Amino acid sequence: MTQTVLVFLDPAHPDGRIEDAGKPTLYATDQGVNRGDGVFETLLVLDGHVRKLPAHLARLASSARMMHLDVPGHEEWERAIVTALAEYQETVGVLDEVVVRLVATRGVEGTHVPTCWVAAFPPAPSAKRQREHGIDVLLLDRGYDSDLAERAPWLLLGAKTLSYAVNMAALRYAHDRAADDVIFTSRDGKVLEGPTSTVLVAHAETDDDGRVTFKRLVTPQLDSGILPGTSQGALFAAAKEAGWELGYGPLEPDDLFDADAVWLISSVRLLTPVNHIDGKPIGANPSLVKALTEELASLFDRIA
Ligand SMILES: Cc1ncc(COP(=O)(O)O)c(C=O)c1O
Repeated sequence: MTQTVLVFLDPAHPDGRIEDAGKPTLYATDQGVNRGDGVFETLLVLDGHVRKLPAHLARLASSARMMHLDVPGHEEWERAIVTALAEYQETVGVLDEVVVRLVATRGVEGTHVPTCWVAAFPPAPSAKRQREHGIDVLLLDRGYDSDLAERAPWLLLGAKTLSYAVNMAALRYAHDRAADDVIFTSRDGKVLEGPTSTVLVAHAETDDDGRVTFKRLVTPQLDSGILPGTSQGALFAAAKEAGWELGYGPLEPDDLFDADAVWLISSVRLLTPVNHIDGKPIGANPSLVKALTEELASLFDRIA
């Protein structure tokens, strides 16, 4: 039995049309299927609460704008999400931890009507394990310069499009080499992002008693062709209030190796510490890594 609930956005069904995810539901001529032409968002529901929904809906709209795709407004998505979560609760189980994916494709060829749906399903068990134990990462070359996004808007850098085959291939490449994940670098040597996550780097100073006296949190430049993370955005707002100094790159691989801690963060996996990059250990002081991770994880939990 599938544990996925599907709700299609449909003008004839204002609250969304529930479909059986175990049955065929898309046309083979849908441009989302045969060209990866569309946009998506993945968000987390924790203890019944949909986290960062306005930020996800804003990014969906911005991704769609970048590819001239007309997508439904926030209210239609919100109604479909409510329907999907009610159906999930009834047919699958409690809403303690549920992944919700919003998808909008360019639709069946020739119709000019997007195909839009909401899917709700349980998270992969690996997310929790990685969050708790940390991950090993490979640096992989993405092959373009960090200033390409502005020069080549047709590449849709910074949009969350359905064309994630390259991101998935990078993850498989890492898994085949006993690593868990990837941090992409640009041709001009800048740190970019993970295939499904944002990179965060911390520098801290401590006094003789080990108390943290200075904390700086840095993420790569947002205009370097990366996806602006909703998790990074929310965490930065909370960290600023908590007295962290903030920075937006540029970051180079040496900045990762010299950091007191490095994390990958995303809506579903949350704040995940990086243990090794290209086999080299990250963060010379494990108790400092642990303390910084706990502080940021609890700030993120409160704000998200
Ligand atoms: C390429 C990429 N960067 C960053 C992120 C993190 O974004 P968010 O924090 O909004 O989940 C994702 C999420 O899937 C992603 O695919």
